[in-house]
Amino acid sequence: MLPSVLQTSATDHVPVLAGEVRELLAVRPGETVVDATFGAGGHAALLAADLQGKGKLIAIDRDPGARAYFDRVAKQVAAQTRFLRGDFSVVLEQLADNGVEADAILLDLGVSSMQIDRPERGFSYIADAPLDMRMDPSADVTAAGIVNEAAERDLATIFKRYGEERYARQIARAIVRRRKEQPFERTSDLVEVIKAAIPAPARFGDGHPAKRVFQALRIAVNEELDSLERALPAALAMLRPGGRLAVISFHSLEDRMVKRFFAAQARGCTCPPELPVCVCGNEPSMRLLTRKAVRPSPQETAENPRSASAKLRAAVKVGDD
Ligand SMILES: C[S@@+](CC[C@H](N)C(=O)[O-])C[C@H]1O[C@@H](n2cnc3c(N)ncnc32)[C@H](O)[C@@H]1O
Repeated sequence: MLPSVLQTSATDHVPVLAGEVRELLAVRPGETVVDATFGAGGHAALLAADLQGKGKLIAIDRDPGARAYFDRVAKQVAAQTRFLRGDFSVVLEQLADNGVEADAILLDLGVSSMQIDRPERGFSYIADAPLDMRMDPSADVTAAGIVNEAAERDLATIFKRYGEERYARQIARAIVRRRKEQPFERTSDLVEVIKAAIPAPARFGDGHPAKRVFQALRIAVNEELDSLERALPAALAMLRPGGRLAVISFHSLEDRMVKRFFAAQARGCTCPPELPVCVCGNEPSMRLLTRKAVRPSPQETAENPRSASAKLRAAVKVGDD
């Protein structure tokens, strides 16, 4: 049963793998919990409830819209609460540098339903809106900026690498041809060009034809992989020994990064595999709490289709108190 703070409007974000996150993070009264991707506060409200009025919730989000959700959650939580707006990689590094320690940290990556479902944010290929896609509306780079200014080769690389788009080159070429006549301003302009650039049979298989390009642009606009790469060691640095880190990712590029990070921390030794004995002497800094990624149950996927691609991994920091 979700706390009443979560039972709100139909457009609110439904927290993914909520029970599993709660179990793996196992928050106890008196601890410090960091929700680095606060969103609508679904996970945070559950984790804060486990503090039972004692301890601290630190909420981070780069979207100023999360603040209103934070205020709502904070009102219903007896523990101390604090909201920090900014990129989680920067904020986690600052917290670690300032000696702030955490017992549980959650990263629930990607965009929230409030961002996707608000057409004016430009994340959706379904609704016509300005081609924006910034999670932080004060950031400099928009999706229109990239589409109108990046070199054709760079566009193709973005679509291929971040969207695994088969027709990346053809779409990049069509974009460059069209922007010479008229720069892109709206999501619908881009959807039309994508549809026209790919072969007719590909328009009907494997989801919406613009899905992969939109995902790729969103990742590029928000520099999502760079943030994650910086955030993982910063989160580890903030954790107390015995502290838990859980990460939910929604595409293979993120999941691979999380999996490799956890595996490297759990292995400790960085010697090349050819060496018969360890010479580096590095000790493991984490122990895996999930051997394989945890996936949503068929029931969760049926109730919340957006959870379908979620993968959850968690690990605990080892070492002396
Ligand atoms: C999937 S939603 C989180 C939803 C949340 N767990 C809930 O239950 O409501 C991801 C959130 O993280 C934020 N976000 C994504 N990348 C971020 C980053 N690098 N720094 C800070 N916030 C980020 C987004 O703005 C979005 O609000």
